[in-house]
Parts: sequence; structure tokens; C-alpha cells
Amino acid sequence: MYTFDDIVGDSKSIKRVKELGKKACNTTSPVLIYGDTGTGKELVVQAIHEGSSRRNKSFIPQNCAAIPENLLESIFFGVSKGSFTGAESKLGLFELADGGTLYLDELNSMPINFQGKLLRVLQDGEIRRVGDTVSKKVDVRIVASLNENPEELVGGEKLRRDLYYRLNVLRIDLPQLNERKEDIPKLVSHFIEKFNNRFNKIITGIKEDALKALIAHDYEGNVRELEHILEGAFNLRNEGYIELEDLCLRMDTGSFMCWSLKDKLEYYEKKYIKEAVIMSGYNISKAAKILDIPRQTLQYKIKKYEI
Ligand SMILES: Nc1ncnc2c1ncn2[C@@H]1O[C@H](COP(=O)(O)OP(=O)(O)OP(=O)(O)O)[C@@H](O)[C@H]1O
Ligand SMILES: [Mg+2]
Repeated sequence: MYTFDDIVGDSKSIKRVKELGKKACNTTSPVLIYGDTGTGKELVVQAIHEGSSRRNKSFIPQNCAAIPENLLESIFFGVSKGSFTGAESKLGLFELADGGTLYLDELNSMPINFQGKLLRVLQDGEIRRVGDTVSKKVDVRIVASLNENPEELVGGEKLRRDLYYRLNVLRIDLPQLNERKEDIPKLVSHFIEKFNNRFNKIITGIKEDALKALIAHDYEGNVRELEHILEGAFNLRNEGYIELEDLCLRMDTGSFMCWSLKDKLEYYEKKYIKEAVIMSGYNISKAAKILDIPRQTLQYKIKKYEI
């Protein structure tokens, strides 16, 4: 399990995350975490559980996108024996997390009608197993994460407004890595140490131009992307300093420095053809003239690249 010491960074925004996270440890109010993929949501949730008085009780993470709609009720609330032919009694996630923390990851993937049932549990602190007639008290700390803007989700009717108000008591927004690039040098040192241990290597550090490239990079995948880039470098080097050539950096959407020459050429060919087709106003003959290739060749390529 992660703790707050594992959350690397001194930027103002990450300091604020830690500050709020530590406050969340001392209460049992629900917590709402909003952050893009790879920003460290799971890290923060685990740190909150570990820092709370519930640390010796269970921590149950559940990705809400992973449950088929017809199983939501039995997975969250459990099943009572004999509720349907052959049914064995089964604990639901709320009972499993009793006394501990239930992490509802990607809550925005939960169907809106089930969100209402979830809200009722949060308000009453009681669950009822499928097929049961009696309810049971549970003591569960809820932490939920959203990977889309919460207010927009409410506006778009993907997140129930009442559930949003219930969860938004303690709110932690995780910054994009692109917005806290000052943390990159520390994150890089952190991951070098982590991978030295994991892969039993003795990488000393990173060359200055390589670090510069990492700072200049545009991270769509946030900290996870940085972590994977460094893991890739560890596959190429056993000792000494990580160099620029060890880094597999995505240059722009879908284009990678480590692609083969053929893939790169095709990438650019598609890009230029698309531009010419648009510039010609979708007139193939004109576009072929712009590109200075036979019309037939262009037609073939348009088909090939599905432009
Ligand atoms: N501030 C940080 N310091 C150190 N490591 C971090 C930090 N933020 C994220 N990481 C690392 O980045 C990786 C991704 O983090 P995590 O799984 O917590 O992201 P997430 O927000 O849950 O992503 P997703 O939405 O894709 O599930 C993990 O290996 C985690 O340890
Ligand atoms: Mg996650």
C-alpha cells in the first residue's frame, strides 16, 4: 500500500493534494477525487486509507466500469441464500469493506439508476442483500474517483446531482503532469531508484539533455506515461546515465520516436495526403496536382489510409 511519502513532488498543486489528503484521513466523510488518467488517484486513495484509523481494516478498490449492469446490485450488496434457485449467500463489497474503505474507481461509468441506490446506502448506512428482507448496518468509508470533470458530468446527466453533493464533501483535484513540470526531476529520480531496485540495476542518473527532453514532453498519460518512458529506458541500459536515445518519446498524436522508418513514413504520408485533400476542397484531381502524384496513385492511397 502507498502512503503520503510515496507521492512525489513539491509543486504547489501537489502540496495541496497532500494537505487535503491528510485532512481526509481524520474524518469518515466521503471523498471525491477528480483526475485524468495516470495522475495518481489510486496512490492518493491508498494513502488516505493508510493514514486513517481504518488502516488495519480492509481496503476494497472497485472499478465501476468493470461490472456488468445486471450484476451491480449483487456485487455491491451481496446475495442472500435461496434468493433465487441455487443461490448461495455471498458478501457484497459493502460488507467486505465494513470498517474499512471502499474505493469506487471511475464512478462516472456507473449507470445513473444504480447511482440512486448507492446514494441511499450513503445516506442510511444500510445495505440489503439481493433476496433479503432485512437491512444491515455497515460502516464504510467511501472514496470515489472521476476521470471527467464532475460538474460537466452532472450537467450532462451522467452523475446524479444529489450523489455529487453527497460525495463532494471533501474534494481533491489531481493536477495534470503538464501543469506541474517542476516536479519532473524529482519524479525521474524517484522512478530511477524504483527501477534500480526492481530490475536490480545500477543506473546512476540521467543526462542533462535527456532530462530536458522529458521536461519538454507533452504528457497525455501523466505520471504513468513518464514512468513507462523510464521503464523503457531501463530495458536499454544497465548502468551509467540514461541518455536521450534511451527515451521513447511520443512526438505528437500517435507518432513515436521509436517507430520503424516505414511506420514513420506512412504516418507522414497520410498526414500530407489528408492536408492536400482538405486544401483542394475534397477534389481528388486537384489534390493529386498539389502532391504532384498521379490521380490513380492518390486514389489508391486514400483507400489504403482510409482518409
Ligand atoms: N505524485 C506521484 N509520485 C509518484 N508516483 C506517482 C505519482 N502520481 C502517480 N504516480 C505513479 O503513476 C502511476 C499511475 O498512478 P495511479 O495508478 O495512482 O493513477 P490513476 O490516476 O489511478 O490512473 P487511472 O485513472 O488510469 O487509473 C502509478 O505507478 C503511480 O505510482
Ligand atoms: Mg486508477
